[in-house]
Amino acid sequence: MSESNLIERAREIRRQLNTELKELQQLGLEIEDYEQRGRYIYFFKSGSRIKSKDVFSSHISDVQEINLYVHIPFCINRCTFCCCFSTGKQPESIVEEYINTLKKEVELLIRTSRFENAAIRYIYFGGGTPTYLSAKQLEDLIGFLKSRLNILPDAGFTCETSPETTVGSAGKERLQALLENGVNRLSMGIQSFDDNILKRIGRKHSAKTAISAYRNSHEAGFTNMNIDLLFGLPEQTLEKWEADLKIATDLNPGWISSYRLRIENPKMHGAFIREADLFPDKETVLLMNIMSIEKLTDSGYQQAQAPHTFLLPSKLQLTPRHYLGEEELGLGVSARSYLDGVRYENFHNLKRYMVSVDKGQLAISFAGKYSRRQQMERETVMMFRGPKGVNRGDFNTRFGLDVDSVLGERLQRLKKAGMITDDGETLRLSNKGLLFAVEVLKQFYSQDAVSRFKNMIYNNESLKGLFLDKKYSRSGEVIANIVKTVAGYAK
Ligand SMILES: C[S@@+](CC[C@H](N)C(=O)[O-])C[C@H]1O[C@@H](n2cnc3c(N)ncnc32)[C@H](O)[C@@H]1O
Ligand code: SF4
Repeated sequence: MSESNLIERAREIRRQLNTELKELQQLGLEIEDYEQRGRYIYFFKSGSRIKSKDVFSSHISDVQEINLYVHIPFCINRCTFCCCFSTGKQPESIVEEYINTLKKEVELLIRTSRFENAAIRYIYFGGGTPTYLSAKQLEDLIGFLKSRLNILPDAGFTCETSPETTVGSAGKERLQALLENGVNRLSMGIQSFDDNILKRIGRKHSAKTAISAYRNSHEAGFTNMNIDLLFGLPEQTLEKWEADLKIATDLNPGWISSYRLRIENPKMHGAFIREADLFPDKETVLLMNIMSIEKLTDSGYQQAQAPHTFLLPSKLQLTPRHYLGEEELGLGVSARSYLDGVRYENFHNLKRYMVSVDKGQLAISFAGKYSRRQQMERETVMMFRGPKGVNRGDFNTRFGLDVDSVLGERLQRLKKAGMITDDGETLRLSNKGLLFAVEVLKQFYSQDAVSRFKNMIYNNESLKGLFLDKKYSRSGEVIANIVKTVAGYAK
């Protein structure tokens, strides 16, 4: 059987990479290995460590406009692949206690740093699965936030959801409660439209339920929706991935997030990766990555948050503001905050988070203060990742500096390598830049930050376990192959 145009095109782009990669390396672009690549974007913890008690020492009252993130860690089921902070199913008493703890955390923040004065421009409910909560619990929590915080009347509001929590009568009630309480963007995790794959990765819904859930939500009034898909899954082939991309684009959501499967914690994913011979090999995963960029851009989507999230241009004004790297206050277990150059994270342990807040103490596990230069690096990377790219005028307004004089040599190198486009006003990632987003974005961090970060990821003990532990040795081999992908294709 001959291959489809999309697969053939992906193979052609892949073939061209063979000849280009050496040239890219000569231009000073160090190609990272595949498995570590995502980490440059996701795990970057810069700044000098500061004590939790100093997080709100002097600056917060100056913050005028911020965004709010609320983490709901519960899910109907713990999917085998998941790298988000999820506790799975919990007794109703714990869920109620968690909602009360979130409220206490808000009161604590108000007492500590007058958060009630900050204008909230965007709210993001993430998880876990926020729609694990009932319609009544969602109404109660949102009502509380509105009563205690200064949420702007036209604030954007995203809620993450899963298909099984948006179908049936309980699902309908939740959708109604969300709509009535100002949620104007729904982000649904679907992962795959193949029933065998869904079963294998521990999803509790079929492809049919996922499509009904999407359509129900759309009909209920959510005209601004995102669908999450995953590539690199066990039993996934190029043809199955193409079918997933086709179904997703035919549904025509405003947003599609196409994530490459990451295995972050081998111990947690033990049972899953023991079946490693079912995973697509490194070449196939790379082709899937190329296919998603090609298919989504062909279907009218453009970059929303590199490298995985795409949007239809008509949704640009509705971009969640946390995609732009703006000031954000995070509530709940494992939530991250970035306020006035300080980045901090709450405990990644449900009990520890709840006990701490209950005792009247913020549940901060890590905090770091960014220097001005580090803030500029971070914000430049966020601008490149975001939907608008780096606008020369905006950069100048933000930093009082000319982007070409600050980044000149690096920009020239990336333009020469075809990684970024430049229309004179705005710099953006090209399609090739999206594929090599990690290598491109790394250029905007200072050398010491990159070295520090490299040490952190290459010395990651839990990943080492993957290769050393005999139990995982076979999967280790397969994963090791995935790990070498990008470095591998430079040879
Ligand atoms: C917090 S979940 C929100 C959606 C909802 N909980 C669900 O799964 O239906 C966010 C998304 O992260 C992505 N994700 C989870 N684990 C991942 C992994 N190991 N690698 C890549 N993406 C992952 C999935 O696509 C998931 O839909
Ligand atoms: S993918 Fe979604 S539903 Fe599955 S465990 Fe993770 S957060 Fe929960």
